[in-house]
Amino acid sequence: MIADDVYRRGRAGLPSWITDYDGRRTELPIARWMGGTHSTIEDIRADEASIAFCTGPTLDLGCGPGRLTEALTRAGVPALGVDTSSVAVEITNQRGGFAVEQDIFSALPRAGHWSHVLLADGNIGIGGDPAALLATVRALLHQSGTAIVEVESTPDVDDRNRMVRWETGDSVGEWFTWASVGVSSLRALAVTAGLRARRTIESNGRVFVELAVHSIDRGAEHP
Ligand SMILES: C[S@@+](CC[C@H](N)C(=O)[O-])C[C@H]1O[C@@H](n2cnc3c(N)ncnc32)[C@H](O)[C@@H]1O
Repeated sequence: MIADDVYRRGRAGLPSWITDYDGRRTELPIARWMGGTHSTIEDIRADEASIAFCTGPTLDLGCGPGRLTEALTRAGVPALGVDTSSVAVEITNQRGGFAVEQDIFSALPRAGHWSHVLLADGNIGIGGDPAALLATVRALLHQSGTAIVEVESTPDVDDRNRMVRWETGDSVGEWFTWASVGVSSLRALAVTAGLRARRTIESNGRVFVELAVHSIDRGAEHP
């Protein structure tokens, strides 16, 4: 699996890339995903800002090598990472987090009982259909739960079902669909899924939106 290769290389400090159907190739921010000594101070601040939203049991969907799952666990917040890469899950568990090797669209533990769901590092793009992903997220949360979603810094970006693949120096993965959304697009999509944007924060150019389960007695978004 290409993701396993990417994370093995990340652990060794080696780069990998994402390529789109038009042939555009961009280096993956693997150092940021690895966390720990690979992180910049800006990365650390953004991570702290995003996990500050999580005060109860948290599901980290597409956790990668699990720096956020680990940080939450160390802070005493019950957290479970989910990723289809066995190497990502192994790294998460080795660093002191808890993760399971599962598809986020499969039946996950404690569905309907999570206080928070994290979609960090652009993971709102998983599957290429953010509306379907948000419906899945809503079903994982309890009635007063929230989702913390990292979005593009340009508010009206809404780019769905884009074909991309990961590449290393010597291997090329299968094409898969991905999406990118900005805060304005996310707000509209969230409503359809029974969620509502409550807060948006920015940290060093990265933007995080807190979505709350929609209920008539919840207030509107405030800055
Ligand atoms: C953009 S990376 C995010 C990295 C991660 N948040 C981190 O900090 O390292 C996306 C991650 O989602 C995982 N992934 C993609 N599709 C998935 C799916 N359907 N179910 C579970 N994990 C998935 C990939 O294996 C990858 O680790």
